[in-house]
Amino acid sequence: MTVSATKRVGILTAGGDAPGLNAAIRGFGKSAISEFGWELIGFRDGIRGLAENRFITLDSDSLAGILTVGGTILGTSRDKPHKMELDGEIRDMVPTIVDNVEKNQLDGLIMLGGGGTAKNALRLADAGINVITLPKTIDNDIWGTDSSFGFATALEIATEAIDRLHSTAHSHHRIIVAEVMGHKAGWLALGAGIAGGADVILIPEIPYSMESITDMIKERMKSGRNFSVVAVAEGAMELDEAAAFQAAQTLVKDAKTPETKAQAKRHVASLEAGHRENTLRLAHKLEEATGLESRVSILGYMQRGGTPCAVDRLLATRLGAAAADLVAAGKYGYMVAARGEGVEPVRISDVAGKLKLVPTDHSWVAAAREVGTALGD
Ligand code: F6P
Repeated sequence: MTVSATKRVGILTAGGDAPGLNAAIRGFGKSAISEFGWELIGFRDGIRGLAENRFITLDSDSLAGILTVGGTILGTSRDKPHKMELDGEIRDMVPTIVDNVEKNQLDGLIMLGGGGTAKNALRLADAGINVITLPKTIDNDIWGTDSSFGFATALEIATEAIDRLHSTAHSHHRIIVAEVMGHKAGWLALGAGIAGGADVILIPEIPYSMESITDMIKERMKSGRNFSVVAVAEGAMELDEAAAFQAAQTLVKDAKTPETKAQAKRHVASLEAGHRENTLRLAHKLEEATGLESRVSILGYMQRGGTPCAVDRLLATRLGAAAADLVAAGKYGYMVAARGEGVEPVRISDVAGKLKLVPTDHSWVAAAREVGTALGD
């Protein structure tokens, strides 16, 4: 065992769950407890449990057998520390959280989460808490890291789903539209679409025109292929809708007063509400334009559930163990990023508020085009 001053560390999982969270808790926890001899507590239900001081003590026994388990043994929530609903009121819980960290005599707090968690972690770091984050999301959209755990598993699941949809689309001469998770970033739809051989892939980064998609499907029909599989990310949009969104987001950014900002945000929210069920509308339009019967498969939470694949177990374990090394070095305010085969600490202040979107000149985009996949543009 490495000789080090005894520390007390807290850990929590926040945002949407993802395969690999338990592997990361274990990776950090085993290093913390067995390697460094620290005490570890796990807050329940993300930032909500931190604000309500609900936690469990984690020891070697509680970390045993969780490597392969999906979800998170700690529970999670999408709460924000500065705007948390409690007893019917929206409250700023940052001061309470600072008190809880002091009360529990924590040297550090490890937060496992995605983009929203990075913003929340920065708020807590600014309030004086020693925070370290680990990148988790099936969307793969966290800025500053090569990858995030959860993505590889979701990619496997979505790819298998697209594979399976092929044979039924082919048998019934149908268009099947598979909706893949990803509101802002299209990594999952693009990756699974390529790996599963989708004929059309639609992602938020590349707005689409119905004409371009239907032309492609009609070309396939002319050559005797009376079926098509379309992989669409939740956030993919037609050209005019994407333009309206961009204009609304610019209004939010440029708003001069709190009132105009609130008004612009309400407009964005109404556009978001209008986007719901886009996949169903897309399938309907494709049926009308091509005459091929169309069906929708929403892959949904299947993509987030269940045991992590080997790649995610490995990534989560090495990021977790690296986080323990940062705590040992007293280095806080960082996200442990995956960098090639290694890891690299990246300042949380550099990560918060940014997204890693699919660059339109990315090699995956180029490969999809080269094999004749339509991207809707
Ligand atoms: O952040 C990951 C993600 O899986 C998105 O792709 C998806 O749109 C979202 O979470 C939905 O999560 P929830 O319904 O749990 O808020």
